[in-house]
Order: sequence, then C-alpha cells, then structure tokens
Amino acid sequence: MKITVIGAGNVGATTACKLVEKELGNEVVILDIIEGVPQGKALDLWESAPVEGFDTRCTGTNSYADTAGSDIVVVTAGLPRKPGMSRDDLLEANARIVGDVAKNIRKTSPKAIVIVVSNPLDVMTYLMMKVTKFPPKKVFGMAGVLDTARYRSFIALELGVSVRDISAMVLGGHGDSMVPLPRYTTVSGVPLTELLDQAAIDRLIQRTRDGGAEIVKLLKTGSAFYAPAAAVVEMVDSVVNNKSRVLPCACYLDGQYGLKDVYVGVPARLGCGGVEEVIELKLSAREKKALHSSAEEVKANIAKLKF
Ligand code: NAI
Ligand code: 2OP
Repeated sequence: MKITVIGAGNVGATTACKLVEKELGNEVVILDIIEGVPQGKALDLWESAPVEGFDTRCTGTNSYADTAGSDIVVVTAGLPRKPGMSRDDLLEANARIVGDVAKNIRKTSPKAIVIVVSNPLDVMTYLMMKVTKFPPKKVFGMAGVLDTARYRSFIALELGVSVRDISAMVLGGHGDSMVPLPRYTTVSGVPLTELLDQAAIDRLIQRTRDGGAEIVKLLKTGSAFYAPAAAVVEMVDSVVNNKSRVLPCACYLDGQYGLKDVYVGVPARLGCGGVEEVIELKLSAREKKALHSSAEEVKANIAKLKF
C-alpha cells in the first residue's frame, strides 16, 4: 500500500505523521511545490520511527514521478482561510491548484482512491472527480468526519461524558449550511433529545457550524489541522483495512436523497474500493429541506468552476 499526501502544510504534514505512526501503508510520500519542505518534514518524520516504533517509510518530493502507482492519494494542497474569510472565498485559487493536482494524479496514479481535503471541500471534490475522470466511488471528500467530531466533542463537554459514548451524524456541505442531525445523535444509545433541551442542542449545533471559523479566529494565520488530520486518517484506515466503517463523507450523488450530480456530505460505507455504498437515512421533511438547500449552495459554486 502506497499512500501519497499532496501538500506538506499543516493538514498534510499532520496527516502523514498520523499515517506513519499507525503504520497505515508501507510507504507514505509527501509532495509539495515548495522545494525542501516535503523532503525535510518526511526526513524528520522518518527519524522519529525508531522512537515511535513504526516501519512505514516516509519520503518527501516535489516530483509526481515519486508518487507513481499510489493506492491512495490525500489532497491537502491549497490555501487555508484567514480570519473573516469563508471557505467559498478560496474557490478560485484552490480550483487552479486542485485542477493541476488532479491532472498529475490521473497521469501518475490512475488506479488511486483520492480523498480530497482542500476547500471549499465539496466543490473541490467534484472538480477532482471531473478532471481525473475516476469513478465517483474512488473520489470522495473529508469534512463530515471532522464536523461530526466537533459536534461530538462539544456534546461531551456539555454533558461531562466520554466522547466515546457519543454517536452522531452531520450531513450536508462543509459550510455554514451543514446539517447536524440531533435525531440521529445518541449518548450510549440514549437520544440526545432526552438529555438536552432544544436551546442547548441549537447552541451546540451553531458552535459546530462555526467550528472551523472558531479555530481560524484563534490561530489568525491558518485553519485547523489536528482534528482534520485525525478525520482523514480514520477514513484512510477504513479503506486500507477494508473496515466498512459508516462515516459521513462528501460523496457523489446520482439520485440518492433526491440529489443528482453534486458532492455533499452523506453517510457512506468505506472499504477497499472506496465508497462501497451511500447510506440513505430516513429524513424528516425539515432535515431533507436543509440537506437540499445545502446541496444547492454547493451546486451554485460548482457552476463557477471552469474545467
Ligand atoms: P497550509 O497552507 O498549511 O498547506 C497547504 C500546502 O499546500 C502548502 O504547503 C503549499 O505549498 C501546498 N501547495 C500549494 N499549491 C500546491 C500545489 N499545486 N501542489 C502541491 N502542493 C501545493 O494549509 P492547510 O492548513 O494544510 O490546509 C490545506 C487545505 O485544506 C486548505 O484549503 C484548507 O482550507 C483545507 N482544509 C479542509 C478541511 C476540511 O474539513 N475539508 C479541514 C482543514 C483544512
Ligand atoms: C475547518 O473546518 C478549515 O474547513 C476547515 O476547520
């Protein structure tokens, strides 16, 4: 198993670190356009192997030739947000970067499964699928696992319980219109709606929606990376080990949930073939409306793409 991480910035380097420490794959390659940075970070990571006790080799490069034949490619190349910016403000610049990355992946790793992280996430995942021309089940995006993790972490703080006992689902695009589902949120099997009143649930949902912006405001010079990297690695683990985890991912919809030709966050069963199945939850009329309006926002941004 060869895994390539494109982009050696905060999310890319942290993802590579977690991948090698968990020995996911035999080889992790980090690629960036900046000379020396992927090589330096990869060497630094490899030098931690004797202490951490992993044997996954880690190398850095500026050349796609070194990534050839990758089984999985994680794409984190692109600009992060600055305070006051929305993810959609990144569209033009990141579409140029992701479009270029996609052409290179198509040439050098034609059989790869591609996990997109670059923002605006759902739109960049669509672009990746169109430019690589890979089957949609092999191109999907990371956002829902992160949004759900934030939601679960806030619920754990509110209730003073272990995060392990909280099971939840956040659907929709990775933006202000994301759709957390309290009806599908439980604490050790007990519905969240039995444990918190509506005002408290609404407050936690709003904090989840603003979760990315909250970190950007604190960091001032970039966006979140520890939780995003952890989320990517959970998805990679399900693919590499064919675990069939059901995780919220940005998936291509072709009629599911009444939506067509759009990427949006939905629960998916992830295995060695990529998205093995999009799981269709029964949604209330209100939840369905929220998912559709989130998908409409994604579609409006897809319409701005030139490819
Ligand atoms: P960063 O600025 O730390 O790293 C980005 C890296 O991409 C830089 O090292 C840069 O040199 C590299 N890069 C730029 N153009 C490239 C190209 N053509 N080929 C290869 N590498 C290239 O940014 P960070 O924090 O790592 O974020 C990366 C992206 O991920 C951003 O767009 C950010 O908004 C997004 N993001 C998405 C999340 C999600 O939930 N989907 C969560 C966190 C970040
Ligand atoms: C986040 O939600 C930046 O999209 C990224 O933190």
